[in-house]
Amino acid sequence: MATIGLYDSGSGGLSVYREVVKLLPEEHYVYFADNAHCPYGTKDVQYIRERSVAVTDFLLNEGADIIVVACNTATAAAIAFLREKYPAVPFVGMEPAVKPAALGTRSGVIGVLATAGTLKGSKYLDTRGRWAGDVRVVERVGQGFVELVENGILDGPEAEATVRSAVQPLLDAGADTLVLGCTHYPFLMPLISRIAGPGVNIIDPAPAVARQTLRILKEKGIPTGDASFSVLLHSSGDPAPLQRMFKLL
Ligand code: DGL
Repeated sequence: MATIGLYDSGSGGLSVYREVVKLLPEEHYVYFADNAHCPYGTKDVQYIRERSVAVTDFLLNEGADIIVVACNTATAAAIAFLREKYPAVPFVGMEPAVKPAALGTRSGVIGVLATAGTLKGSKYLDTRGRWAGDVRVVERVGQGFVELVENGILDGPEAEATVRSAVQPLLDAGADTLVLGCTHYPFLMPLISRIAGPGVNIIDPAPAVARQTLRILKEKGIPTGDASFSVLLHSSGDPAPLQRMFKLL
């Protein structure tokens, strides 16, 4: 049985946990929500690196064999730094799903929803430069999305207005494909789909990240699956948001 550590600035990374568990149902999971420091999206790189080191130390202390950085913003700011600092630890990060979006769009316009930190990160900019040369990319920060999810507000007038204000400009620009570039956003998927309508494809990169986690465990020869499952949830701040989101899963 492997011990799989995951972390995010809050409950958003549970959208990744959900996919990893589908592929690896017989492991021990440790999930860390750094919600005392949420959001990461507006913080500088140095701050996110420091938090990522503190959380990594916690997860390693809990016996993590692999760490999934279940946060696009932390991946952008800190994963290269973490790999250098902990060369023996396998890390899996979030990939901005620009490639499948660029390959799949029919209108030639893709919309990317992410935090400000992710959108200015070199990982995202490189991926966009590499795969989206022939399509138009329209970007938007999901302003207020993280707060909605942390507060468990996934529907209703407030959520609808917040989500619409970020999604509508992407639709107006002609996007037929939306990339969810923040792990909190998939929890708003029903609302985003309703606003976008049936002709718009919405891509959550979490299933691909789960496949990558499985691949790396195999590659490293870390034993998995012995018919038992457990999960430890840890928050650096108020535990209520994580408990609420976990119940929802
Ligand atoms: N869930 C995070 C992400 O994927 C970060 C949200 C935030 O803390 O700003 O980017």
